[in-house]
Amino acid sequence: MSQLDTASGDLIEELMQLTAQSLSRLEIREHFNVIKEIGRGKYGKVLLVIHKFRGTPMALKVMPKTSTKLQGFLREYCISLHVSCHPCIVGLFGIVFQSEEHYVFAQELVIGKDLFSVIQPKIGIPEKAVKRCAVQIAEALQFIHSKGLVHRDIKPENILLLDQECCRVKLADFGLAQKRGTLIRMVSGTVPYMAPELCAVNSKGLCVEPSLDTWAFAVLLFCILTGYFPWESCTPSDDFFQEFAEWSNGIPDAEIPSQWKRFTDSALAMFKKLLAVNPDDRYCVIEVLEYIDKEWVKREDSDSQVAKCSEDQITAYHVMSVGPNKLVQSMATVSCSMTCHLTMISNHHTKCNLQCI
Ligand SMILES: Nc1ncnc2c1ncn2[C@@H]1O[C@H](COP(=O)(O)OP(=O)(O)O)[C@@H](O)[C@H]1O
Ligand SMILES: [Mg+2]
Repeated sequence: MSQLDTASGDLIEELMQLTAQSLSRLEIREHFNVIKEIGRGKYGKVLLVIHKFRGTPMALKVMPKTSTKLQGFLREYCISLHVSCHPCIVGLFGIVFQSEEHYVFAQELVIGKDLFSVIQPKIGIPEKAVKRCAVQIAEALQFIHSKGLVHRDIKPENILLLDQECCRVKLADFGLAQKRGTLIRMVSGTVPYMAPELCAVNSKGLCVEPSLDTWAFAVLLFCILTGYFPWESCTPSDDFFQEFAEWSNGIPDAEIPSQWKRFTDSALAMFKKLLAVNPDDRYCVIEVLEYIDKEWVKREDSDSQVAKCSEDQITAYHVMSVGPNKLVQSMATVSCSMTCHLTMISNHHTKCNLQCI
């Protein structure tokens, strides 16, 4: 670990202790007018509020004390604060407190949706918008990694949009962020974005490294380019992952797996680097910039993605969140050349299934 990494880690510890000592006690409604809930994740909810005295709109991240450890809350807040000066990372106001039932901190309000909510199932989002996201997320991650930190929860739900076209996006949710080199024994995160070394973690544990973010970043790119997950999990029992690993490891005669055939040679070369199965061989996220001027999706695929898919009958379930705690399930029979069947559970995204049929 470099000196810079260690210094940054020490600073986070120091910030956590200082914050704990001065954590004031107040009730949300004393200081804020609560307008509505604007988001909910695995760990907390986010409220749109107006600061009563200043009139400033803010997004309050509110975490119940019953399910949140103080140390975890302090870490999330202090890491967020430490990196919040970057233009592609959500800003903070330096407001942090506890109420009787919650730990709370105030974030810059990002009025657009999150990236997940603009992905069209089975289609994704336009390649130009993907590239705008890719550059900004890669720069945010590069900055975080340069501070000796790892985000550990890169996925579309944690990318906030300032506009629908993804001209400006911001990385949020440092709830799982850790110092590089931290030994973890418990696996947390969202399964399809987890790197193979994380899926294989055993009692010896695993050192948190930026390469975990690189893997999740590349999976995110696949998801937003296609509207599908590339696999359910990076385990030996997952055929989609196995096919990819064999092809990417250069096993003789290994064919390009069907769901990757839509990509150009340039995009495939990029994915091979970002999704190197061995974390030591994996490139940095910023490698994506080398490919930003190349085409990623083959022209005929991007022009007629839906029309072209005619041979195989696929049943796809799309479970999309339409509001807090409310799930709508729609079942669609589609024609598609990708032989997979996808269930996406959004926003409360604790689970997803991708199966061969
Ligand atoms: N600053 C913000 N402005 C607007 N919406 C936000 C903001 N922060 C989070 N959200 C919304 O709230 C959701 C949950 O927030 P997040 O911090 O990811 O919580 P969790 O740690 O529980 O996943 C996000 O997916 C996003 O839709
Ligand atoms: Mg989240």
